[in-house]
Formats: sequence, C-alpha cells, structure tokens
Amino acid sequence: MSNRSNFTGKIGFVLAAAGSAVGLGNIWRFPYLAAQYGGGIFLLTYIVLAVTFGFALMTAEISLGRKTGLSAIGAFKTLDKRFSFIGYLASAVPIIILPYYCVIGGWVIKYLTVFIGGGGSAAAADGYFGSFIGGVWEPIGWFALFLGLTAVVVLFGVEKGIEKVSKFMMPVLVVLTLFIAIYTMTIDGAWDGVIYYIKPDFSKFSVKTVLAAMGQLFYSMSLAMGIMITYGSYMKKDVCIETSVRQIEIFDTGIAFFAGLMVIPGVFAFSGGTPESLGAGPGLMFVTLPKVFDHMSGGTVIGLLFFLLVLFAALTSSISLMETVVSIFTDKLKIGRRPACFVVLGISILLGIPSSLGNGIWGGIKLIGMDFLTFFDFISNSVIMPIVALATCIFIGYIIKPKAIIEEAEIGGAFKAKKLFTVVIKYVAPVCIVLILISSVLSGLGIISI
Ligand code: PHE
Repeated sequence: MSNRSNFTGKIGFVLAAAGSAVGLGNIWRFPYLAAQYGGGIFLLTYIVLAVTFGFALMTAEISLGRKTGLSAIGAFKTLDKRFSFIGYLASAVPIIILPYYCVIGGWVIKYLTVFIGGGGSAAAADGYFGSFIGGVWEPIGWFALFLGLTAVVVLFGVEKGIEKVSKFMMPVLVVLTLFIAIYTMTIDGAWDGVIYYIKPDFSKFSVKTVLAAMGQLFYSMSLAMGIMITYGSYMKKDVCIETSVRQIEIFDTGIAFFAGLMVIPGVFAFSGGTPESLGAGPGLMFVTLPKVFDHMSGGTVIGLLFFLLVLFAALTSSISLMETVVSIFTDKLKIGRRPACFVVLGISILLGIPSSLGNGIWGGIKLIGMDFLTFFDFISNSVIMPIVALATCIFIGYIIKPKAIIEEAEIGGAFKAKKLFTVVIKYVAPVCIVLILISSVLSGLGIISI
C-alpha cells in the first residue's frame, strides 16, 4: 500500500503516537493501580518493564507496521499466514476498551462541568463520587456525550484539528500535573504518601504486581492491540525508530509518574492512606483530586483547567481507539467509513451501558467476581493483551527472526539496544508472560494463591 499518507516531519510521528499513548491510562489508571499494588514496588516494577519489555515491544510493533505498510491484521498475514490470528486477536482489544474508556471519559466531563459551575467543594465531600456513579441516567448521559464527541471527530475526519489543539494542550497538562503534584506534597500528612509511592517495599511484591504492571504498560503505551503497527505503517523510512520509541516512553512514563505523585500523597493527606482508601480502584482520582483542589486557594480554577486538559488527553486517545476500530470494520466488513462509524457507535453503546450501570443498579451482576467495567478492563489488559504480546514475541523471535525487525529499525538511524531487544523478545518476555499467565489462571481456579 504505497498510497498511505505519511506523518509529516520527524516530530509528527512522536507527537501522534504520544497523543494516542498519553490519556486516561496515565492520569486515571496508573495512580490507582500504584496505590493498590504497594506503591513503590509497583512503580519500580513498572519502570523496569517499561525500559525492557515496553521498549522491545513498541520497537517491534512500529517496525512491523513500517516494514509491511499495513495495519495489524494485514501485517501478520503478509509475513506469515499462520500468524494472522495475532492480528485478529489484537484487533479485539480496542473494541473492548473503547466503550469503557468512554464511560471514564464521561466522568471527566462531569467533573469539568462541576468545576465550571463552581461546585468544586461539593465534589470534595465524601460520598460524592459514589453517589454520582451509582446513578442511572447521569453517568450514562456523560458517557454518551463523550462517545458522541469522539464519534463526531472520527465521522467528520477532523482529527487534525484536535491534534493541533492537543499539541498545545499536552505541554500545559504536563506543567499543570507537575504543579499539582508539588502542591499535594506540601499538604500535611502527604509526605508519608510520597514515601509509600517512591520507596519500594519488597515484601509487597507478588506475581499480581507484575501482572498489573504489565497490563498497565500495554494499556498506557497503546501496545498489544495493533495500534502501534498502524502508526508504524504511516511512518517515514528516514525516522529513527529507536529514538522515537525512547521519546514516547519517557513522555508517557513521566506523565504517569507525576500523576501518581499528584494523587497518592493526597490519599494519605485526606484519607489517611488506609488500605481501603488506597484500594479504592477506578474512583481514586475522582475522589482524591477534588479534595486537593478544595484545599488549594484558587483550586476551582486549577481544577477546571485540569479536567479540561485531561478531557483533551482522553479525547485524543479515544479518537485513536475509535479510528482503529472503524478501519478494522471498513477493511473486514467492506463497508464505508460512515456505516462503520455507526456500527462502532452501536457496539460501544451496548458495551458501555453495562460498564456504567455496573457501578450502581447493576452492581449485583458479577462476571468472574467483577463488575462489568472491571471485567472488560481485566479481559483486555490481563488476558488478551498478554497473549497478543506473547504471540508477537514468538513470531518475531522465532519465525521472522529479530534480524528482520533490527534491519527495519536501522534504516532510519542506529539501533543501539539491539542486543537487549533480541534477548527480551526471544527469551525474557515470553518466559515471563507464560509464567504470569499460568499463575493467574491457576490462582483464578483457586489452585494456588498469589
Ligand atoms: N494509551 C491510552 C491511555 O493511556 C489508552 C489507549 C489505549 C489509547 C489504546 C489508544 C489505544 O490512556
């Protein structure tokens, strides 16, 4: 497919890929997982995985895309027919993630409107978040609005406009996150939270820590779902893949790190850092940050700005998710872009509504012990994505061989870490993933406890 349009300039690729990578995963998901899985030990595990595993997998995916000029399904198929299943499996991930991503995106819009209306103090009260997500029509309404916004952008093909705005907004988000993080650290009682977050407690390490950190890595860096393959297919040959991957990685991990620093010390300052408060899960950011803003002079304006910027970061990610799903449907179902958009919209509404209601009236319905949102999140991040990553590593390590990727990566510049790349792809990553998958299945079946 030589008629693929290319990203303009070298920085164009990094910005577009970072736009997809930086989103709710960094700001909403990372802090609550870090809080839940022991703080420092989670952070350390995450960083180790990011510079080894994340680096290797992202390099592999981008190179696969650039080499073949195709997106996931086509890329695996052209290289070896027997492995086209990886492409299909990878494509299932964005279909599962998009609906619940939009539910959380809806929560962000809700909080933005609350701060616009000057209701920041009310949002800081205990129980506010719970009663909001426990409702029926309100969370569904905000979900529909976020999904609708995403769909409008994708339908009218105005991503360029959003990208322009977010190029300017992203650096502001970084600065603001940093500012809020520094402020939070100065609140009475917050310092214990900083220590909890930075200092690894090795007694809290378990297979679960690795599984959670690995799932988060895939999610946050948009890996193991074909997205980076598609992005790679648009990348020019003269761009250095290694440098780009490093830049995306630093940017993505940096934002997640500061987001954790913004939220976790706040949990200690306002909720005492008890196991229950640290284990609050998906609601953590929405419960904690309003309290931080309420404590801050000028907090209403800062809060408003914050939720606005997060909304943009979330939109660039949801747009990239929806784009991917739409292009899968146009290719596979041989339908036009418009009908494909409507099909995706329909599926997202169907799957999004249970995810929203699962926090309230459908809270009693459990799928393997989880509410709908947690279930979709688990299936994609902890089951399908590790399988896709494993299959990708085997495919590259033993079928097309690492050399094929290294050669592609070397076209646009040096590939200094090629030894590391080869070792991780051939040995470290497959062994780790197999062990983790086996132990989580065994623990799921109640045979071992991890
Ligand atoms: N990486 C995005 C985030 O951190 C989520 C995402 C996943 C976006 C997959 C696009 C595709 O929020």
